[in-house]
Amino acid sequence: FNVPKAVNEPVKSYAPNTPERKQVLDTYKKMYNETIDVPMYIGSEEVRTGHTATMSPPHDHKHILGTYHKAEKQHVDLAISTALEAKEKWASTSWEHRAAIFLKAAELLSGPYRAKMNAATMLAQSKNVFQAEIDAACELIDFLTFNVQFMTEIYQNQPISDKGIWNRMEYRPLEGFIYAVTPFNFTAIAANLCAAPVMLGNVCVWKPSDSQVYSAQVIVELFKEAGLPDGVINVVYGDPVMITNTILEHKEFSGLHFTGSTNIFKSLWAQIGQNINKYKSYPRIVGETGGKDFIWAHPSANPIAVATAMSRGAFEYQGQKCSAASRSYVPKSIWNDVKKRLTKDVNSMKMGSPEDPSNFINAVIHEGSFDKITKYIDKAKSDSDSEVILGGNYDKSKGYFIEPTVIVTTNPNYTTMETELFGPVLTIYVYEDADWKSTLKMVDETSEYALTGAIYSQDRYAIEYASKVLENAAGNFYINDKPTGAVVGQQPFGGGRGSGTNDKAGSIWNLLRWVSPRTIKEAL
Ligand code: SER
Repeated sequence: FNVPKAVNEPVKSYAPNTPERKQVLDTYKKMYNETIDVPMYIGSEEVRTGHTATMSPPHDHKHILGTYHKAEKQHVDLAISTALEAKEKWASTSWEHRAAIFLKAAELLSGPYRAKMNAATMLAQSKNVFQAEIDAACELIDFLTFNVQFMTEIYQNQPISDKGIWNRMEYRPLEGFIYAVTPFNFTAIAANLCAAPVMLGNVCVWKPSDSQVYSAQVIVELFKEAGLPDGVINVVYGDPVMITNTILEHKEFSGLHFTGSTNIFKSLWAQIGQNINKYKSYPRIVGETGGKDFIWAHPSANPIAVATAMSRGAFEYQGQKCSAASRSYVPKSIWNDVKKRLTKDVNSMKMGSPEDPSNFINAVIHEGSFDKITKYIDKAKSDSDSEVILGGNYDKSKGYFIEPTVIVTTNPNYTTMETELFGPVLTIYVYEDADWKSTLKMVDETSEYALTGAIYSQDRYAIEYASKVLENAAGNFYINDKPTGAVVGQQPFGGGRGSGTNDKAGSIWNLLRWVSPRTIKEAL
């Protein structure tokens, strides 16, 4: 099981006058000025249905980047049958050859594909280059290389044998096909939700988010160039209800790999339950869903560190990371210092198009999201138990721009302390220092989610106490660090409660969900 040892892909700086900065911005401009037509990839076919939708940058929504073709039911049926046809050959391809394809994809992405993948993510998902780099380049490369290593660790895990008996485990892919339903906010997650099961010999039908079609196209190109056989991943765009209904009716449906909203995941789960007698096997259901991620500070916390965690944890990528901090609890004694530093940080954040890397804030993903977030901001402006202390302005005339916004509330159960907005809004509750223990209970009980959370303290007793009270409040728990930016291989990512099945993306535990082991006993 000799595979190259996975190491995290170094993050490029994109500092002024670096060659990588010039290259990615040139690529961005070129892609902005051309118009592409994105087909669906089903087997070796590029399917163009003529039933199309357009793609636009969220920061420049009148500009058309291109069109993509949407499926009708027959195309979804074709994607399923094509996947199942490809299955036999792919499942029996040896792991070394499957691994080689994904290691090659990682090499290509580290080199010639890097600028294009980043630029697609900047253009169509409105990420600045620094946010694109840690996602579309580094995290995706890490998913590929680490998962190859984790796969070999699974295969090596063998039972003991006895005299005259040879026992072994064969890690078979699941029978049937996998349905990957992927989000707009991380190009890496979208690719990994297909790549992880596929690496282990599964085949998949992939439904990307309508807001991520541009980078989905680049992912398809990358995997094709790396040598992934046709039919192993089949892409369908379009009506999610029709696509889902068609797939979840199918006898050979064997697993859902999902990242997206809690409500949709729950409805898919319920639908799978209703259809359970139709399936050959019990489908595996793996999902990462919503969050209401917290930063809690103890009176001993360093106020500068707390403010920095807030500005980066809540506002990078406009608060659209599932890990983004959106509620915070700060003791009165340090609040003035936290507020001073947070005000300075937020006021220095420039907002605008990703084509200028100095714009820290870009646009939120689409009009629906803009309207939802700004409605909550307006409410906070008029409610008596909340005050908007920073930001609060917005403008959708050219792009869906919302200023980084800080709300302070006197009500720990205020609506934006509980509801996921998925935007650049942080709500802070300031508490009496003496109440720090009871505030921890609030952190635990205020939200239905448990994805990420951060505690800040310089008191070891308080750290230990908080870690215990919050043991189920976050699948990714940070001590004196911001709650975003999990690195593959270092902080396996995923949460419990309403945040998902906690199968940790980019880990051996996730990969184990995509195998159906056969135990073999042979008498010698
Ligand atoms: N992995 C990302 C982060 O930790 C979220 O998906 O920010």
